[in-house]
Amino acid sequence: MTTAYRSRKKKVSIVGAGSVGTAIAYACLIRGSADVLALYDTNAAKVRAEVLDLNHGTQFTPPCSVDGGDDIAVTAGSDLVVVTAGAKQKPGQSRLELAAVNVKIVQTLTEQLLSQSPEAIILFVSNPVDIATYAAVQAAGRPYRHRIFGSGTVLDTARLRFLMASKLGVAVENVHAFIVGEHGDSEIPLWSSATIGGVPATAFVGPSGNTLDSAIRDEVATAVVQSAYQIIEGKGATNLAIGLSSAFMVEVVLRDEQRVLPISTLQNGVHDLEGVCLSLPTLVGGGGAGRVLEVPLSEGEREGLHASARALRDVQDSLGL
Ligand code: LAC
Repeated sequence: MTTAYRSRKKKVSIVGAGSVGTAIAYACLIRGSADVLALYDTNAAKVRAEVLDLNHGTQFTPPCSVDGGDDIAVTAGSDLVVVTAGAKQKPGQSRLELAAVNVKIVQTLTEQLLSQSPEAIILFVSNPVDIATYAAVQAAGRPYRHRIFGSGTVLDTARLRFLMASKLGVAVENVHAFIVGEHGDSEIPLWSSATIGGVPATAFVGPSGNTLDSAIRDEVATAVVQSAYQIIEGKGATNLAIGLSSAFMVEVVLRDEQRVLPISTLQNGVHDLEGVCLSLPTLVGGGGAGRVLEVPLSEGEREGLHASARALRDVQDSLGL
């Protein structure tokens, strides 16, 4: 942690006081991610209630002041803004089907948020997150492509690592692997660079003799893609894990941690990808999204990544972006 980044109070605003925005606020509060939290939602009664509920818990958390309201001015002077606003995925609906509705909301919000907080980093969580991020960067202008990024496949990657660790019977912290591409149906796991304790994941043998053979790898990859659908089917929305992973991303930025995270950014040439927002392992720190890492890809992974980029570009084109 660089002291320069902790020398004054850090303000994080969360746009949208629905189940995701509230879970992010709660996770930020209990993790001590920020000094000041502000919630903004057009539903005044709902945001007031959530702010009260969070404030009543602040005796049991690291120090943090929580405020909020239905006026976007509550977000003024933020170091970082997390955007969760937008319609949510219905059972059986893909994230891309949400696109048309949410793009309009995102573009208007981006301009308003930047006028309230000209220096802020903006983290998009609204789905479909890659399209939302692209629309936001387009609204703000290309120079903002480091300061505006999406949560991308950070959560999918956590799901992948969780599943790999449980299949093998090893600690999740020892599993290094990434999901890249779209945060959605065309995302792909990078098995060729996945390692456990420095050993290629495909060759690793767990304590009970378990391995990740190709049938298990397929099962794991499918389970990752199905995770959100499964949760939406059972409880209507995913919110707790995205809350925790977003709070984690907030800390990585505010503490200038320079961590490698698969966030969604406007691609600028790595793996010959351009003009599309998708996730690749990227250095993240105080300035937002830094360098995209050129992780070696197998031929199949490269094809999968490009197919994912094409799927996203088709949506961008169909929306006139
Ligand atoms: C999920 C939502 C955040 O994957 O898209 O849980």
